[in-house]
Parts: sequence; C-alpha cells; structure tokens
Amino acid sequence: MKLFVKTFGCQMNAHDTARIFDIMRRAGYARTDDPREADVALVNSCTVREKAWHKAISETGRLRLLKGRARDVVVGIVGCVAEQEGARIFSLIPGVDFVAAPDHYAALPALVEEVRRERSTRALTGFDEGAAGDFLAADTSSAGGSPLAFVTVMKGCDERCAYCIVPTVRGPERCRPAEDIVEEARALVAAGVREITLLGQKVNAYRHGQADFVALLERLDEVPGLARLRFVSPHPRHMAPELTALYGRLATLCESIHLPLQAGSDAVLARMRRRYRAEEYLEVVDRLRRGCPSIAITTDVIVGYPGETEAEFAQTLEVIERARFNGAFSFKYSPRPGTPAAKLADDVPAEEKSRRLDLVHERMERLEREWRASLVGAVLEVLVVQEGRLDGQVGGRARNGQIVNFLAPGGKGLAGLEGALVGVKVTAVHPHSLEGVAV
Ligand code: 5AD
Ligand code: SF4
Repeated sequence: MKLFVKTFGCQMNAHDTARIFDIMRRAGYARTDDPREADVALVNSCTVREKAWHKAISETGRLRLLKGRARDVVVGIVGCVAEQEGARIFSLIPGVDFVAAPDHYAALPALVEEVRRERSTRALTGFDEGAAGDFLAADTSSAGGSPLAFVTVMKGCDERCAYCIVPTVRGPERCRPAEDIVEEARALVAAGVREITLLGQKVNAYRHGQADFVALLERLDEVPGLARLRFVSPHPRHMAPELTALYGRLATLCESIHLPLQAGSDAVLARMRRRYRAEEYLEVVDRLRRGCPSIAITTDVIVGYPGETEAEFAQTLEVIERARFNGAFSFKYSPRPGTPAAKLADDVPAEEKSRRLDLVHERMERLEREWRASLVGAVLEVLVVQEGRLDGQVGGRARNGQIVNFLAPGGKGLAGLEGALVGVKVTAVHPHSLEGVAV
C-alpha cells in the first residue's frame, strides 16, 4: 500500500508529515511521490493566510479527482485547515473521505481502515491534553540517515496575536518534559543526526516543571555528539538576557535566529497585541549582535495591517534599517476567520499593500545582499547534507543558515562526507547559495 502526502506551511507541518509517514509505515504503507499510485492521498494543510487556505483546498480538490480511476484511493485533509473547517470540508469538497487535525495523527491507520470499510466520511478535530499521541517523536530511522532533524518541544500557542489563526487551529500551549526532549535528541544523535532544530509555535516560552528554555538548551548542549542546535519560532517578548547570552556561550547554538518583528510602529504592535515596543525589539537585536557579532537575524513583517497609516508603515522600514536584518519574509495582512483582527475593517487597499510589500522587499534585498557579499573571504563551518549545485560539489548549511556549495575534497562524493563538518572559505555569492573551497 502506498501513501502520498502534499505538504504546505511551516517546519512544524513538514515535521508532522515525517511523523505521518512513520505512523503509516508501521501500518504497512510505503511512501510515494506520485499521487497516481497512491492508495491514500493526503494534503497536510496550512491556513496562516487566506492564500495558504486556498492552496490547500484546491490541492485537496485535485487529489479527489484521483477517485475517478480504478483504484480505490482514500483522500484526506490533515493539518491546520482540517482543524479550522472540520466536517465542513465534506460539503466544500465532495469526495473527500476524512479530515484529521494535528492532534489525531496517531489514529490515522485506524481512520483510513474505517473509512475504507464503511465507505463513510469521518472528521477528527479538537485538541488532546497529554494523551499518548501528544508528542509523538519521529522515528530515528525515518531521518533516513540525514544529519538534520526536528524535535518538538511545545505545541499550541496562548499568545493570541490579534491577526493569528494559530491558537485556533493548533490549540493551547502544551510543553513536553525536558527529559523526553533530551532522550529524543540522544536517540537522533545515535542514528547519525548532527543538527537539531527545536520546534514550537512560541518555542522560547518553553517551560516544564523547573526547566525553562535556557535550561533546556543548556541540557541539550551537553548531549555528546550533537554539533548544532537551532529553534523556531521565538517570540521577542521572551528573549530574556539569560537567553540572548547563550549565543557564543553554548558551543552547539548556531549563530542565527528567526525573530518575527511584524511591525515597526508601537501603535500597530499594540493593535496586533504583540506586547512589545519597537525599541524593546531593537534592544534584543542589539544584545544579540553585541554578544555574538556574527549572528544572522532574520524576521517576518506584515504590511497593511488594519488602520496602518503611511507614517506607521514608514516606522517598519526604519526598524528594518536599524536592525540591519540578514533576511526577511514579508506578507500582506490577510484577515483570518475568528481572529480579533478579523473584526476590524481590512482598510488598507490591495494596491497599497502591494506597494508597501515592494518597499519592504527592496530594503530587505539590499540589506541581505550587502551582508552576503561581506561573507566573501570568511571561513564558515559547513555541515554537509546534500549534493552541491554543480557536478562534483557537495552542499550544506553554515551555522548562520546560509547554504554553501564546495568541491568535495579528495574526490569524495556526498556519501563520504554527509554529516561531516567542513571549514569552507567563501569565494562567491549566488542568489540562493554561497560557493567556496574547503580549507
Ligand atoms: N496575515 C498576514 N501574515 C500573517 N502571518 C501570520 N498571520 C498572518 C495574517 N493574518 C505571518 C506572520 C508570521 C508568519 C508565519 O506569517 O508574519 O510570523
Ligand atoms: Fe500554517 Fe501556522 Fe499551521 Fe504552520 S501552524 S501550518 S504556519 S497555519
């Protein structure tokens, strides 16, 4: 039996897809990348913006068309749209067999069986409070020998930023015991993993019993054989000095952080319910850069939030400039059902949102280009993970998050180098990667 999954959205969703393959493999399903040969075809959906919701719905609609063929394929939607829409999916997209929200993946094999046997539809939604499936770790074998892995430390979010649908679709905050996290990290390292990315919707607000996020990072730093740690996504208001001080102090903690700003105006930040002011955000950036000058700081920005004036938007550009970001994702505000912001008039016209987005892009591209150009001549530690851009090259990730390709030394191919940490001197900058020579 074969399983196809089309994944949208964040790293949390990508990790969930890996767990879904694990769960289904134990029930006898092999992975396929061709939906036409699937016995079960799933969309792992995202709904963070309206565009993501549309993509999930149209992809699910496409998969449902597989049913016209001889094969008795079961089609389901999982992920954030599954929680958001529940059984409404069955009228929205007739022919879909089941809906399963993120806390229900352990039940997938039974669900597929039931739907196939009864020829009926089923919707599993809602959140569990510490049930067995709660923090299902991915199988170490499923890493497939990759030196990179994700580990979930918390799920859900209680922050309730006014624009954000995540608390509605991912439920309340639940943190995992530090012992379990460290145990999973050890098992992954034993299976060949060198770099772990900790996952949580508000990862740096982690707390379980006596252990806060700083304590968790300190414990993970001591796992023998673990070379690198990263985490997504932190909230600026939980970037305490004790946490920023870990950069440059913990050998495993990579010099890169994705720290969503969202807006540069205090009035907009207040309307977004972000609970920090622009100066406080910049103070965190300052602390990070002072303690760790090589750190790469990337961010998320939303333009055209309800009521955002030209002057308020200009403050976003100003903060971008002052923070000297190393990269950014920027988005037009998109009203999400059930969020507090959805009750406000979405009053910045579409063309104006586009104009503001272009201005943010322009600034960010310049900052990013200048920073990347400044890396030429630097020696970066690269963790080899993939084939390179050109023949004979291998590629990997530097601690600052940049992809670096270089000629494999000694004529070794990827097989001989995967998981190795290699010092690489940067010689050229390409749009999506750096190029260098091993030193
Ligand atoms: N509209 C636009 N962008 C949003 N994001 C989250 N919700 C919305 C929304 N309603 C952006 C934020 C967040 C990123 C994952 O998506 O910038 O950090
Ligand atoms: Fe999308 Fe947010 Fe769900 Fe991730 S948690 S898949 S970003 S809606």
